[in-house]
Amino acid sequence: MSMLRVEGVTVRFGEVTAIDDVTLSASPGVTGLIGPNGAGKTTLFDVISGLRKPSAGRVLLDDADITAKGPHQRSRLGVARTFQRLEVFGSLTVWENVVVALESRRRSSRLASELLDRVGIAEFAANQADTVPTGAARLLELARALATDPQLLLLDEPSSGLDRAETDAFGELLQQLSAEGRAVVLVEHDMDLVMNYCDHVHVLNLGRLLTSGTPSEIRSHEGVREAYLG
Ligand SMILES: Nc1ncnc2c1ncn2[C@@H]1O[C@H](COP(=O)(O)OP(=O)(O)O)[C@@H](O)[C@H]1O
Ligand SMILES: [Mg+2]
Repeated sequence: MSMLRVEGVTVRFGEVTAIDDVTLSASPGVTGLIGPNGAGKTTLFDVISGLRKPSAGRVLLDDADITAKGPHQRSRLGVARTFQRLEVFGSLTVWENVVVALESRRRSSRLASELLDRVGIAEFAANQADTVPTGAARLLELARALATDPQLLLLDEPSSGLDRAETDAFGELLQQLSAEGRAVVLVEHDMDLVMNYCDHVHVLNLGRLLTSGTPSEIRSHEGVREAYLG
């Protein structure tokens, strides 16, 4: 059974059709969502997380239609996301940022240190969030998302700004999250991460689903190469 199902979703911005009748699903494990800039990946995350109502189509979580639910309701149902443009509280410390996320779900603030450790940024705990390197800020967003104990986790370009060692650690974390039975949807330009850690990959191009398959199927797909080469 799919944890997430997007059915016939279309999003129009005036004349622009950002998402055009997309149907896809994600099960527990890591699902890649790739495609060139402007393909509609972030817009699709907005629809799944409830920040944007689709012009048509529906979103199902565990077979229940959640299309009419807002972002907070979806969060309570276990949907969490990170943003391509970072959205941490810059004036709070790294640790406080995670505490706020924990408390929003009535979870103990004692878990904050554990979460910072888990994503590998414990050393920045006491630093003001807008002073840490981009990579650490991205990992902080991930810690905040994990603070809600999500069953569905949407990650929008999480590895940009991470160095090699951080990227490897992030890959390990993806495997752990997968082993815990969570469904992770990964929007990612680092093809090594996608190919090494995704169980399944969906490819968007110009708002349409170009193809879906295993990483090796995607790698050898002619249309995918063309879409990336323009
Ligand atoms: N708020 C918006 N208003 C108008 N057009 C938008 C808006 N957000 C995204 N778009 C357009 O929708 C398309 C998909 O954008 P986006 O979802 O950000 O793609 P991706 O994340 O794959 O790079 C692009 O053509 C973009 O210009
Ligand atoms: Mg995007």
